[in-house]
Amino acid sequence: MSDFSTDWLALREPADRRARSPRLVEGLLRRLAVLTQPPGAESSPSPRTLRILDLGCGTGANFRYLAPRLGLVPGAGPWVRQDWICVDRDRKLLADLIHRTADWARGLNLTTSLHGEGLIIQGVQAIPGEQGVGGVQGDHGDRGVPGFQGAQGKIHGVQGVQGGPAPTTHGRVRTRDLDLARGAESLLLGAETLVVASALLDLVSANWLAGLLRACARSRSHLYLALTYDGRIDLFPDHPHDGTLIALVNAHQGRDKGLGGPALGPSAPACLAELAAGLGFALEAADSDWVLEPDEPELQAALVAGWAVAAREQVPHGPESRGLDEAICHWHEQRQAQIAAGLLQIRVGHRDALLSPEREPGPRVYRAEGSQAAPLRSTSM
Ligand SMILES: C[S@@+](CC[C@H](N)C(=O)[O-])C[C@H]1O[C@@H](n2cnc3c(N)ncnc32)[C@H](O)[C@@H]1O
Repeated sequence: MSDFSTDWLALREPADRRARSPRLVEGLLRRLAVLTQPPGAESSPSPRTLRILDLGCGTGANFRYLAPRLGLVPGAGPWVRQDWICVDRDRKLLADLIHRTADWARGLNLTTSLHGEGLIIQGVQAIPGEQGVGGVQGDHGDRGVPGFQGAQGKIHGVQGVQGGPAPTTHGRVRTRDLDLARGAESLLLGAETLVVASALLDLVSANWLAGLLRACARSRSHLYLALTYDGRIDLFPDHPHDGTLIALVNAHQGRDKGLGGPALGPSAPACLAELAAGLGFALEAADSDWVLEPDEPELQAALVAGWAVAAREQVPHGPESRGLDEAICHWHEQRQAQIAAGLLQIRVGHRDALLSPEREPGPRVYRAEGSQAAPLRSTSM
């Protein structure tokens, strides 16, 4: 069991998908290109399999975002063979992952079959010269998908010989019911496994994160860590209690979530940068903020309700706290009224990060887009 319901994860998935940094996915494809064809294997007819470990996978949103961009959808990217292991401690979410992902794959005209302990997804590779796929169903397409839309030219040596049988794309998704509190040693990282996680790092402790990065440094794994909350919350129109509420929410984020001690919460991106530098990873990071417009009232309402509950849990018991408790309730009522009237905009700060092992732990390489998100404005209201 966990605190994350399938409903909540389904509600946030479109906002997550929109928010992720396409630049980092491009960077990921570039960095993984060295694995596509190892030295001396240029003429090998069989493409390599990319092994991916998704930590805290929930219902598989990370898979559904990333697998097509890496190449599971024909014509989209170089990795036409992918082997995913998706880890979570919540069996209900893991069961849902298989069903949701099978439905999603069928919606993209990929074939699916349940095979032993996993889901097999296959697609027929486009014939060279034919039009590539136009996008992934459900994507908003507002940012485009680099290396994905009509990406025939970007496929590296995996297409069939003209006139010959077209190779297929092949993905295997297996789930693992595992409590990550057991630490990175239990993950059995293989050489060059790609480690991915989304919306997880703010839940973990500094010790847990250090253990994960040490294990990845040993196995020379790349990491793609998306959608880490960074403490920025911006609401428009503003409210006199916003500051109080945000401070209480951020304090609540630091509570122990069962992953090795107090959670990193908003300090997760900074902690990641420091640990990565110390262990010789090259780090690239970018903002991946949620920008929730009034046309997403359900997600806005769930978010605001969650913040009000968290803030109230931070208020000490006793008559002296009654005023603060009432202020939070008042704030919540007003925010819900604004949501119902279609008057609220919300920005929630997140960061995506890409870590690549370097040969020797060395000086810090930290390229980051500054967190200088434009303030919310009333243009769309
Ligand atoms: C915010 S959700 C993110 C889920 C998914 N990655 C996504 O982006 O939709 C965090 C996930 O971490 C999982 N999780 C939290 N603590 C865990 C632990 N100790 N072991 C394994 N999974 C854990 C939860 O069950 C949940 O699925």
